[in-house]
Amino acid sequence: MPAVVIVGLQWGDEGKGKIVDFISENADLAVRYQGGANAGHTVVLNGKIYRFHHLPVAALRGKHVCLASGMVIDPVKLLKELESLNREGIQPKLTIDGKAHIVLDIHKMLDEAEESSGKGVGTTRMGIGPTYTYKSARVGIRFSDLVEIESIRSRLEKSITMTKALLSDVYNIKVELDVEHVTQFLHEVASKLGKYVGDVARLVNETLDKGGFVILEGAQGTLLDIDHGTYPFVTSSNTTAGAACNSVGIGPKRVDEIIGVTKAYTTRVGKGPFPTEMEEPVASIVREKGKEYGTTTGRPRRVGWFDAVAVRYSIMLNGVTSVAVTKVDCLTNIDPVKVCLAYEVNGQEVKTFPSSLHVLEKCKPVYVELEGWRELSEKEKVEALKGNFDALPKQLRDYIEFLEKLLVCPIKYVSIGAERREIVIR
Ligand code: IMP
Ligand code: MG
Repeated sequence: MPAVVIVGLQWGDEGKGKIVDFISENADLAVRYQGGANAGHTVVLNGKIYRFHHLPVAALRGKHVCLASGMVIDPVKLLKELESLNREGIQPKLTIDGKAHIVLDIHKMLDEAEESSGKGVGTTRMGIGPTYTYKSARVGIRFSDLVEIESIRSRLEKSITMTKALLSDVYNIKVELDVEHVTQFLHEVASKLGKYVGDVARLVNETLDKGGFVILEGAQGTLLDIDHGTYPFVTSSNTTAGAACNSVGIGPKRVDEIIGVTKAYTTRVGKGPFPTEMEEPVASIVREKGKEYGTTTGRPRRVGWFDAVAVRYSIMLNGVTSVAVTKVDCLTNIDPVKVCLAYEVNGQEVKTFPSSLHVLEKCKPVYVELEGWRELSEKEKVEALKGNFDALPKQLRDYIEFLEKLLVCPIKYVSIGAERREIVIR
């Protein structure tokens, strides 16, 4: 059995949670590979909404879930997530890679200070960027450090000194921070989460060696990747399928399938260029239909038309083998529906996503208008969910087939509603 990566093809919030939940039924292991509490993955089960920030959504199916080394984990938020699952009677088997980094208050303070200064990119304020910054500066704290807290004292002192200097020199904020306080916090984390710390790389490789089925769950989206995304308006990790291999610790040849998830339209939270951003009043209509408010921050999401240039770029970067299109139900009764085929920049038409943000900022979308579709009847829904794609309204089928041609990649899943079972397999 294979390793499958699920990756977002836009700026996050594509509905990855739902697709992962759907395909994880037969999984042996489910692994989150980057980011941290900035993510919000939602699964709707019998009308009840489950929100995940760190844990792979397969926890809901009682699967063994792992947090890989490339993640930055907020212990306080992770404990809350575990507690809320426990209240639902779910006690997930969890392994946290010892190499994953711990988000501390100092990281959250820095993120908060930058955003409050008004000069930030519109982060989730979860301390993600600073934790990765400290990791790269080799002053980060990892889960494996929890067994030897006294031995990392000099590293802690250095990161506290750095934080004080940044807060005071860059943001003019004076705070009292002392190493004892952080040490005490780490002891608490050790007592509560220490039992979960292990070696995810070994676990995943051994599971694959035995023929197991492993799901590698991405967070955010390809266009938020720190290298390939719309830098500097990005998150601070590599979000692509390639990053999954590195974070988890498996060779690239071990991945068999890469499922790219995209909405039938586009959303983006935070600042940064967004060529297909919709005008009012359509933007508000789609935002309300799609409940486009951040799972993690509650912020209203910016809403736009489907951007084939951007999604094709993401398909290329990830080596996507099949596509899942979500939230087609949130575009019902919108007519016409626009799709961006190319950009116009400096009087020229381009069909490839520019690698320079300066160029992207000048891009104007070239649209084609397609006929919209109405709401599905119950009968059509039931028939379509049996796998009968032809039961869907003609305009919707045309839309999906049109996207498939543009993307040059098979669209295997079409999500027609929020509930777990509401996916049409083609
Ligand atoms: P950070 O990841 O909190 O540092 O935020 C950096 C950028 O990524 C901001 O524009 C955020 O809105 C965006 N972002 C981070 N996580 C998510 C997510 O899960 N969905 C959508 N956007 C996200
Ligand atoms: Mg989300």
